[in-house]
Amino acid sequence: MTDRPLWSGRFSTPPAPEARALGHSLDVDRALAPEDVRAGTAHVEALRDAGLLTNDEAHQLIEALATVRDAILDGTFVFDPSDEDIHSAVERGVTDMLGEIGAKLHAGRSRNDLVATDVRLHLLALATTAVDDVRAVARALTARAHDHIDDPMPGSTHVRPAQPITVGHHLCAHAWALTRDLERLADWRRRAAVSPLGAGALATSTLGLDPAATAARLGFDRAFENSLDAVSDRDVLQEAVAVASICATHLSRLAADLLRWTDPALGWAELDEAYSTGSSMMPQKRNPDTAELARGKAARIAGDFVSLAAMLHGLPLGYQRDLQEDKEPAFDALETLGLTARALAGAIATLRIDTTAMRAASADPGLYATDVAEVLVTRGVPFREAHRRTGVLVKTLADNGRTLGDLDDIEWEEFGVPDGAALLDPDRSIAARTAPGGPSHGSVVAQLAALDALLES
Ligand code: ARG
Repeated sequence: MTDRPLWSGRFSTPPAPEARALGHSLDVDRALAPEDVRAGTAHVEALRDAGLLTNDEAHQLIEALATVRDAILDGTFVFDPSDEDIHSAVERGVTDMLGEIGAKLHAGRSRNDLVATDVRLHLLALATTAVDDVRAVARALTARAHDHIDDPMPGSTHVRPAQPITVGHHLCAHAWALTRDLERLADWRRRAAVSPLGAGALATSTLGLDPAATAARLGFDRAFENSLDAVSDRDVLQEAVAVASICATHLSRLAADLLRWTDPALGWAELDEAYSTGSSMMPQKRNPDTAELARGKAARIAGDFVSLAAMLHGLPLGYQRDLQEDKEPAFDALETLGLTARALAGAIATLRIDTTAMRAASADPGLYATDVAEVLVTRGVPFREAHRRTGVLVKTLADNGRTLGDLDDIEWEEFGVPDGAALLDPDRSIAARTAPGGPSHGSVVAQLAALDALLES
């Protein structure tokens, strides 16, 4: 047990307790213990390959690193007040075990390249989980969409009835957004899979280490191109959080639709009890907390992005201790995204969709006003005029307490749309929308085939 940090040689007094408390990051970076040991192990191999460690020394160091990792993971590792962060703790643990051999571990490396390496490894793992979780939401959506390709519902704009679509089409729209997030995460991975280890504090070292070999050992695609860039930039974190924030926004909008559909005033769907909560006071309540939290968590993840961007803004190159603040928002964003996605996937898989209520709501004659105007267009009326005429018709009817549904054959004939009553039918209207990407049966079947292929991989 020592009170002296690992950099204490140049100092005659230890840090003030409050300065130490401010600098302490173990609560957050303890999560990096496995990655710190992985990176440490690869570094030991680099030192051995450079002739700076014997095979036996390397072996002892690698064993000691593993022992320290296991002790940290099973909670038996005794942290020391001098352990500023996980990197100091691991190195000290190894040195306590091996003495002089342990003291060789940090040759040619710095916590600056080490922390950048650990964090990349950790984020790559968190992103793998997040991808699985987000894909599960998209798959839950497409699974439900397959069952509702021909079930009409009122599509809305401004949260008001607009034109008929199908439940399948609507669910696919959310799934498409999530496939773009999955693409973004896959693309991010190419930039994240670059190893900073060997960059040292900022300028590599004089020890003849091979960063490319280290990168390969750690499963990265390649090593850094510039050591100063490698220790200074945090764009890999920022980009991951940006993508997480976009994805969380998508989940929040999906949640908003679930909240609307399950509003008892609309009654189009019901969340399963397992994804609902009760009220501590009002016995009758069944609240949609899962969806509300999915909506709320997007704010938190957007906040994580803002924290990172604000911290990084204007920092000159080189490691600055401000950078220590990078981990909490980055880890939080990816962990929160996964947590949210997992709950939402379950809520969607178990959602009770009331297709009868949705079909009944699709009988609203106003939903077909555009179809009426478009018939006029096919009969040569300029669209603006067709829109005006139909608008006047709807208003005149409304003024008399009527709707398009109340027009008789003669009135339709007079309006210039013979057999207009037949237009007020969701199945006909949807079938007529044959454009690719629209709500018609063929289009949604094609969309689902494409989505299923994308979500397969
Ligand atoms: N705990 C530090 C961080 O998370 C590690 C790097 C410390 N480097 C330094 N020069 N003080 O950023």
